[in-house]
Amino acid sequence: MKHVLDRIRTEQRVVGRQDELTALLACVAAARHVLLEGPVGVGKTALARALADALGRGLVRVDGDGRYTEARLVGQFDPPLVLERGYVREAFLPGPLVRAMQDGAVLLLNELNRMPEGVQNVLLPALDEGLVVVPHYGEVRAAEGFLVMATQNPAEFVATGDLSEALMDRFELVRLDYQSAEDEAQIVRQQARSAPSEDVIAQAVALTRATRGHLRVRRGASVRAAIAIADIATHLGGDVQRAAQLALPTRIELVDPRGTDLPQLLDELKKKTSLNSLQ
Ligand SMILES: Nc1ncnc2c1ncn2[C@@H]1O[C@H](COP(=O)(O)OP(=O)(O)OP(=O)(O)O)[C@@H](O)[C@H]1O
Ligand SMILES: [Mg+2]
Repeated sequence: MKHVLDRIRTEQRVVGRQDELTALLACVAAARHVLLEGPVGVGKTALARALADALGRGLVRVDGDGRYTEARLVGQFDPPLVLERGYVREAFLPGPLVRAMQDGAVLLLNELNRMPEGVQNVLLPALDEGLVVVPHYGEVRAAEGFLVMATQNPAEFVATGDLSEALMDRFELVRLDYQSAEDEAQIVRQQARSAPSEDVIAQAVALTRATRGHLRVRRGASVRAAIAIADIATHLGGDVQRAAQLALPTRIELVDPRGTDLPQLLDELKKKTSLNSLQ
């Protein structure tokens, strides 16, 4: 598995995450399904995608929401074809679950906890027996390599549901937290499109990190904000503060949105970051 880890670094360009990747690879080697838990923008999708690519497996991605249906996940018969030819195999349009099972691919279920219970229940036999029974189509058995990676944001952030006990029992949990300032700077360096200066990168990362755990901020910003700030600032002659005014409001949740003056909050954050850099 070491070569997979190397490939994840060199080809997929995943920054840091040594412990988490080691844990993920151990789960994969043991053919266990994984639940990745972490706040918005922490890198859940990036890790899942990098892992699937490095393993040489396909990745089938599903974004969960409250209206997602079992039929969409499993697949459904095409009504006109059924009318014409009956329930023939060709009339079945496989959904992401059946496709991933047949291809031995990684099924990435984003925000699984947002999906309705019915959808979550379909997954139970697929997860432990590698089996789904589709009416009129028959049994679908998972090919070797089939693996489910589900993601969820911790419940305190968003009004999301809980996964059932039965479903949790079929997953191993890998928690992702925000990375170090050095790792985040490297991610910005890599992801920004406008080749920001080192100074802009450092300021963008520091401002973004200062939003986390600030008294007036309920939910701070992810490295996505730092990438955006660095890119925009580069096009504003290096004005990180102005860029942050554009990039942060959409990415943080305030404790008291009406009573908070955003420019003032940004000034405070800036002061906090320059104090830190003096230390
Ligand atoms: N360790 C990392 N190495 C390289 N890039 C990373 C890393 N972590 C995050 N990124 C980058 O940061 C951005 C956000 O990551 P990603 O989309 O994977 O987060 P997420 O946890 O899936 O977010 P969401 O909760 O919104 O779905 C992406 O551009 C991603 O490529
Ligand atoms: Mg994601």
